[in-house]
Amino acid sequence: MTEERVSLVTGASSGIGRAIALRFGAKRMRVGLVARRKDRLAQVAAAIEKKGGEALVLPGDVRESKTADASVASVLDAWGRLDVLVNNAGIGAYAPLEQLTDETMRQQFEVNVFGPFYLARAAVPVMKKQKSGQIVNIGSVVGLVGTPRGTAYVGTKWALRGMNECWREELYPHGIKVAYVAPGYVITEFGGRKEDVSLPEAEWALTPDDVVHAVECIVDQGPNSDIKEIVVQVRDRS
Ligand SMILES: NC(=O)c1ccc[n+]([C@@H]2O[C@H](COP(=O)([O-])OP(=O)(O)OC[C@H]3O[C@@H](n4cnc5c(N)ncnc54)[C@H](OP(=O)(O)O)[C@@H]3O)[C@@H](O)[C@H]2O)c1
Repeated sequence: MTEERVSLVTGASSGIGRAIALRFGAKRMRVGLVARRKDRLAQVAAAIEKKGGEALVLPGDVRESKTADASVASVLDAWGRLDVLVNNAGIGAYAPLEQLTDETMRQQFEVNVFGPFYLARAAVPVMKKQKSGQIVNIGSVVGLVGTPRGTAYVGTKWALRGMNECWREELYPHGIKVAYVAPGYVITEFGGRKEDVSLPEAEWALTPDDVVHAVECIVDQGPNSDIKEIVVQVRDRS
């Protein structure tokens, strides 16, 4: 079956974003791939194309609004529409409040909050014209709680969840749905970790595909359904 939907996934060069992009490609959604590492994006695009899907490599830094504008323009140019935006690119820094530098705080908000803002701002006019669209914001379980040393990262995920709520209320009259996905610990390269299922934490942690499952639920929901938030905790919380 040919899938007409067009998607844009940020942070598609590794981890959760890569896994979402690969699944979208396998479903025959067309996928625009955004991240800084062009070589990694090219590998993801090649994997999608090898299985008969269509992908577009859109290298860029989500901290710059021109990346969002150019990515949306490229997808429109290639495929004429934009149905699904996944704001996934993110970085994580934890530090005691009194040791948190201006630079770290700023970087966190530029990537995790301004990035999604720029992308959504660029995508919404297109979706409004279509009278349809789905935005998925990849947050975190820490977007629902506070943690020690979490001022920067946890602060960004609450901010993203706040924007998510506002966008839901502002955009539903235009046929645009918005959802927040809040995963627990996932085995990826996040925060300098290793994406390696032979690590001891693989015994209990989530895999990127666990998050993809939640995202797929959202993008494949029925017309009268509007999933607001999916929290994917790790099963073992001991
Ligand atoms: N792993 C976890 O335990 C966990 C748990 C809850 C939520 N999350 C969230 O899941 C999302 C994905 O993280 P992940 O675990 O998949 O980590 P990851 O493997 O490190 O992936 C992060 C992605 O974000 C991209 N990115 C970072 N800074 C960017 C920038 N300035 N411009 C464009 N792209 C940028 C990276 O690409 P480039 O480096 O190529 O630019 C990469 O593709 C994040 O929002 C994270 O907060 C992760």
